[in-house]
Amino acid sequence: MDVTIIGCGYVGLVTGVCLASMGHNVRGVEKDQRKLATLQRGDCPIFEPGLHDLLTETMKNGGISFTDNVKQAVKEAEVVFLCVGTPPKADGTVDMSFLEGAGKEVCDALAELKNEWLVTIVVKSTVPCGTNRKLYNFLKEQVPGAHYAVVSNPEFLKEGTAVQDCLNPDRIVIGGESPEAFRMMRRLYDPLIKREDHFMTMNWESAELTKYAANSMLAARISFMNELTVLCEHYGADIEEIRKGIGTDSRIGPAFLRAGCGYGGSCFPKDVAAMEHISKAAGYESLFVHAIQTINANQKKRFAEKIATKLGRPVQGATIAIWGLAFKADTDDIRESASIDVIKYLIERGATVRAHDYKGMENMRAYLKEYADQIEWSADPVTAAAGADAIAICTDWPQYTTLPFRKIAATMNQPIIFDGRNCLHRDVMRENGFQYYPMGRPPVEKELRLKSRV
Ligand code: UGA
Repeated sequence: MDVTIIGCGYVGLVTGVCLASMGHNVRGVEKDQRKLATLQRGDCPIFEPGLHDLLTETMKNGGISFTDNVKQAVKEAEVVFLCVGTPPKADGTVDMSFLEGAGKEVCDALAELKNEWLVTIVVKSTVPCGTNRKLYNFLKEQVPGAHYAVVSNPEFLKEGTAVQDCLNPDRIVIGGESPEAFRMMRRLYDPLIKREDHFMTMNWESAELTKYAANSMLAARISFMNELTVLCEHYGADIEEIRKGIGTDSRIGPAFLRAGCGYGGSCFPKDVAAMEHISKAAGYESLFVHAIQTINANQKKRFAEKIATKLGRPVQGATIAIWGLAFKADTDDIRESASIDVIKYLIERGATVRAHDYKGMENMRAYLKEYADQIEWSADPVTAAAGADAIAICTDWPQYTTLPFRKIAATMNQPIIFDGRNCLHRDVMRENGFQYYPMGRPPVEKELRLKSRV
């Protein structure tokens, strides 16, 4: 099928490349001239495992091409995806200006096209309830004779596994009113549909709310586990045991129950905040989604405070190695990452930070430029730790688990690790002489005290 993707950011590019790999004929529209030039060269402007290879392959066989000409690209398409950003405004409400701009351009193209075949406009961007209906009505008003349909098709991709998620979706949600458009979307996604009941059609509002509900539910699970770490640390319980204990209940399930120093990224924080505003707009004060956010902010702060109180020396003048800057492993995205809160907290109290990440260093360097004098950027985690008073792990890069810990302990000023992602083994830490503070798990500290007394 002929598919046009408006907006080749993270969601648009992954969707476009995956659709091209399924045999569709895809045109990506990107207005940012730098990004467009990068894409036209066959380079990938974002880091996402597997995406570059698939882009190269699909470009080579002519499955995908890139342009900045919206009108032309819309005129050539049966399906037009709107994948533009819907970032949060300062007050937490959703900035709809990019989507409105894209909607107007599609409208102009439809006005010239005078098509007889159906053009299905797919809103992939995460948008508040009522947006798809508004877009449909706007087009109806502006181009009354046009043959088009609007469907909502929320995306559920995770950064770091986006290609895999796109090609193996748990479900495909389509919101709308046109049976013809539903059939078109069914045909478009046919190669990905393994079970018929995983292709779901519903009305626009249900689809829009499904997206916010999914992200809020996942964030709620994490915040609940994070809140439990407070009790675990108080009563000497182990959050990892509790995770297994509840995750094996088939009604609860094991996913998204990992406690840590707080969730981040461009989606959970934005979508949970938007959910709160969506509730307010409906005249309802949602205590639940408000709590999810408060717990998350507190957890980031609690981790930073733990470093300060367990450091065994004043933070002022201390050197702390931060392992992990990205909001999670396998991405260079640092948006809303817990590491930002931790770094700011430590620097504001007079510490020097040695930062390391496998992919997110450049983004963080640009983001924290006003802290440039207090941050040293380390090419590897071992160098970051040398001479430091503690290591704080903010991202669970798997590479951190297999480092030469005995050697690292020997080079540190004091061998202390604060594990904000519970990714290291307590026994390995103990054996290598570390004082070790995980989240919601018993620390390794008594043994060290005994050793130092001998
Ligand atoms: C999230 C959703 O998982 C996707 O389904 C959705 O499509 C996407 O948002 C979006 O709306 O675009 P993403 O933000 O890429 O995906 O990352 P996740 O893997 O969900 O992780 C989000 C945060 O939660 C990370 O900071 C991660 O470290 C944290 N997390 C995740 C935990 O603290 N514990 C867990 O058990 C899982």
